[in-house]
Amino acid sequence: MHQCVPHTPKASVFHTDHGERVHIREAVPHDIPLLTDLLFRLSDDTRWLRYFSAGPLSFERAWQEATRMAQRRTHDRAALVATIRRGDAEEAIAVAEVVRDQRTATVGELAIVVRDDYQTHGVGSALGSQLVRIARATGITTVRAEIQLENRAAQRLMRRVFGSSMATRHGSVVEMMAQLSNAISNG
Ligand SMILES: CC(C)(COP(=O)(O)OP(=O)(O)OC[C@H]1O[C@@H](n2cnc3c(N)ncnc32)[C@H](O)[C@@H]1OP(=O)(O)O)[C@@H](O)C(=O)NCCC(=O)NCCS
Repeated sequence: MHQCVPHTPKASVFHTDHGERVHIREAVPHDIPLLTDLLFRLSDDTRWLRYFSAGPLSFERAWQEATRMAQRRTHDRAALVATIRRGDAEEAIAVAEVVRDQRTATVGELAIVVRDDYQTHGVGSALGSQLVRIARATGITTVRAEIQLENRAAQRLMRRVFGSSMATRHGSVVEMMAQLSNAISNG
């Protein structure tokens, strides 16, 4: 009988600050259920910091967003997923994306979200630094992130991974821009 075996891209292994083993790899369509579960379970605070939207996320909306994230890499966008194993099951604990700016081709918009129970364990920094290599390979030289003013974690992550960043405040949002030439890159 012919079996369709989904292709899973090669993963790199990273250990959290608490010593837990995490796999980081490019997202693929096979990840839609994993990513839906991750997005659907985010706390209100985390969802607000990632999407600037306070309303609850329905399962259908989480599935749609996961489907968007799990498209294979193109010249204009890439997503990395961080996973752990729980028994026989794989769980997504974070996802990071870079999407090319439509007006300035050398700029990539960065977005990362880490599951609440894995925040502050170094996962966001590990994903960010792996995304650097992919972004560079597609000709992106600068990353930009829009971050809530109160979001110290994301601002520190930008500085930790991307080095010196230019920050411009627009009301309650800070736009941070960083040159990839200053960034640390893992993988
Ligand atoms: C922002 C986020 C991606 C950071 O990922 P993380 O895995 O928690 O961060 P790390 O453990 O890699 O730490 C990165 C830096 O943030 C700091 N940090 C982490 N959580 C923090 C917190 N709650 N308050 C202050 N600083 C914090 C860390 O100390 C580290 O800084 P340092 O190197 O100067 O010590 C994660 O907290 C998250 O998903 N937040 C909600 C969504 C979001 O804000 N996304 C970013 C906007 S797109």
